[in-house]
Amino acid sequence: MINAVITGIGGYVPKDVLTNDDISKMVDTTEEWILTRVGIKERRILRGEGLGTSFMGIQAVNQLLKKTGVDPKEIEAVVCATTTPDYPFPTAASIVAYNTGCVNAFAFDLQGACAGFLYALETAANYIRSGRYRKIIVVGGDKMTSITDYTDRTTCPLFGDGCGAVLVEPTTEKIGILDTLLRTDGSGISHLHMKAGGSAYPATYHTIDNHEHYVYQEGRYVFKYAVSYMADAAAEVVERNGLTKDEVNWVVPHQANLRIIDAIAKRLGVSEDKVMINIQKYGNTSAGTIPLCLWEWEDQLKKGDNLILSAFGAGFTWGAIYLKWGYDGKKA
Ligand code: UT7
Repeated sequence: MINAVITGIGGYVPKDVLTNDDISKMVDTTEEWILTRVGIKERRILRGEGLGTSFMGIQAVNQLLKKTGVDPKEIEAVVCATTTPDYPFPTAASIVAYNTGCVNAFAFDLQGACAGFLYALETAANYIRSGRYRKIIVVGGDKMTSITDYTDRTTCPLFGDGCGAVLVEPTTEKIGILDTLLRTDGSGISHLHMKAGGSAYPATYHTIDNHEHYVYQEGRYVFKYAVSYMADAAAEVVERNGLTKDEVNWVVPHQANLRIIDAIAKRLGVSEDKVMINIQKYGNTSAGTIPLCLWEWEDQLKKGDNLILSAFGAGFTWGAIYLKWGYDGKKA
């Protein structure tokens, strides 16, 4: 039986930092509110004329290719999970593939909001499991600051920019992406969306004046669903694979709110030292949060470690993945 396993990881966060202090100069908020209600100290922001999500994706993929020593010409597909592609078309994936030398790959974007990386990883895993593909890159990342309204205090402290990329290859060992649970509930649209700029409400002076090209979120409502759906999905994947809480080596949650992360850890009964948390540094980078966690924790991961990934986002989209890590420590 062929399964799919992550065999390398790259990541990129922009160097410019936006602190809570900076944000409290833009809107009526405080360092204390952001820290206690969300858990963010600072976030990275991609500055530079014409730089979009693909810029970060290119850095992440170049690092991944360097670390794994893989020739980009061998890459057969590049799947990019993002809600903030550089352009409505063409895709961010096509720009990333072209600029990293993945000239033999077909490339496409996949939009699953904050759960996008999970959707993309499962998609790539199934290409690999089919036996027809041997090397696929999955990119997850967003330039959330491009759709953040810095006059809205309920959303502007939350988001940052960043991108991660993983290589997925076949294996016949019992490692890799062992189980996946993905869900969607379109009734969430009114509570979390960007209203304009798509085909329903193309850009007009009116949509711009009304701040409709930014994230709109009913935080408290979304919070409730994020906690229960992320925790339920993670718990179900743990349970149906017969894992005890001691057998879970790492929980890798989407980084939207430290209180959501804590609730999931509590539900799974795992201690905080087993939970990857970097929300304090990067905020919510949407499809970037999970690969950026894996990137930062790579040196601590060992072959055979049991990881539970879990995410929730606009749509609503959510899910969890059980994966057994495929190699020891950091690839040079
Ligand atoms: O990643 C995709 C999915 N998204 C999520 O998972 C996000 C889920 N939601 C959340 O993380 C939280 O709901 C937020 C962080 C967005 C908001 O935290 P909250 O504790 O749910 O706050 P709230 O919306 O219930 O607002 C509480 C109070 C309100 O004041 P009143 O009505 O109690 O007087 C808000 O006006 O906090 C006020 N508030 C602020 N105060 C200072 C809202 N934003 C701010 C702010 N600074 N930035």
